[in-house]
Amino acid sequence: MSMESKLSSVAKTTTPSPIQELSHLAQRCNAINLAEGFPDFPAPPHIKNAAISAINSDFNQYRHVQGICDNLANLMKEMHGLDVDPLTDIAICCGQSEAFAAAVFAIINPGDEVLLFDPAYETYEGCIRMAGGVPVYVALDPPCWTLDADKFMKSFTSSTKAVILNSPHNPTGKVFSKDELEIIAGACCTKDCLAITDEVYEHITFDSEKHISLASLPGMTNRTIITSSLSKTYGVTGWRVGWAIAPAFIASAIRNIHTKITDSAPAPFQEAALIALRSPPDYFESLKKEYELKRNYIVNLLAGVGFRIQFKPQGSFFLFAELPEDCLLSDVEYVKELIRQAGVVAVPGCGFFHSNLPSEELSKPCSSYQKRYIRFAFCKSHATLAAAAKKLVKLLDASGYLKLH
Ligand SMILES: Cc1ncc(COP(=O)(O)O)c(C=O)c1O
Repeated sequence: MSMESKLSSVAKTTTPSPIQELSHLAQRCNAINLAEGFPDFPAPPHIKNAAISAINSDFNQYRHVQGICDNLANLMKEMHGLDVDPLTDIAICCGQSEAFAAAVFAIINPGDEVLLFDPAYETYEGCIRMAGGVPVYVALDPPCWTLDADKFMKSFTSSTKAVILNSPHNPTGKVFSKDELEIIAGACCTKDCLAITDEVYEHITFDSEKHISLASLPGMTNRTIITSSLSKTYGVTGWRVGWAIAPAFIASAIRNIHTKITDSAPAPFQEAALIALRSPPDYFESLKKEYELKRNYIVNLLAGVGFRIQFKPQGSFFLFAELPEDCLLSDVEYVKELIRQAGVVAVPGCGFFHSNLPSEELSKPCSSYQKRYIRFAFCKSHATLAAAAKKLVKLLDASGYLKLH
């Protein structure tokens, strides 16, 4: 028997994303990167200095920084009117990613069903499966990614344990409306389900959109696990500081799991988190403004070269752009050509879709909307966005459309 057969079933089903092949192509072609969801511009100096000073002050050992919990409790009260006990209701973890995984392990037993909205950020499913849970997808309706209450309600069974909600949403930039949140909250209460929210883009919303935490809806405080992190709000995705906020008995379970897996989040960056979380209101206002300008820039750019933009991002820093109507390429083929011919890389949308369409249907070229979207990340410097614009505009044909062949 081969040595590979000794791998666990979890390892065998946790494979690299097919998008990695495109990453290699992008590197070989030295393409401008509008694929990855992290900034290519410097992190705020006041936060970087706090981390450097924490290292120099020898905050270099395992550590739990209680001040983070105190600050988060204050922020939850200010932003959402939530009463969070900083001593019992918060677990500091290594990014939202670990907080989410620990939350899933804290509540999901083998066979439990977990509802997710489709399209979805890729990492949720792996965690749910590792815990033995069964992901059940509820498709949001394009082009505005609207929640269909009927479809959602019909997805519940007696095995449904939890609903996952990511708002503001990756990859679409959707901010779930109050009405939609009320539907989700109502269902969680009547079906006696828990919710895990991913709120990493909580501070990145545009125009008059406001992020509302599901936990703040009637009946939800006691059944919601909020997860978030420093990563996106402060542009420090590599620091790996995040948190879960939950009723005390769940937060305690998450802390226990976190301690067994990673012990603690990086000590100097936890210290710097204290400074980050106390950033003045100006910081959050300019964060929104800067990203709104970038959103406007990329929407105009891509609409100008023929993409169909029926839904303008309301939050997060992604644009989920639909291929031009007459384009016969699939999303993956289009991205390959975008890399080769334009020298720009983005992410094919198919990786975010998981719906239950039969596989022969999904394998037909361009047969469904799941193969017609491309995700562009606009968390990039103006220089990067302008360089991408220059490359795309170079390929415009006489009719003013991007000519890929
Ligand atoms: C929706 C969403 N959740 C979570 C993460 C990861 O967050 P963290 O760096 O805190 O683990 C990302 C990163 O792209 C994301 O887009």
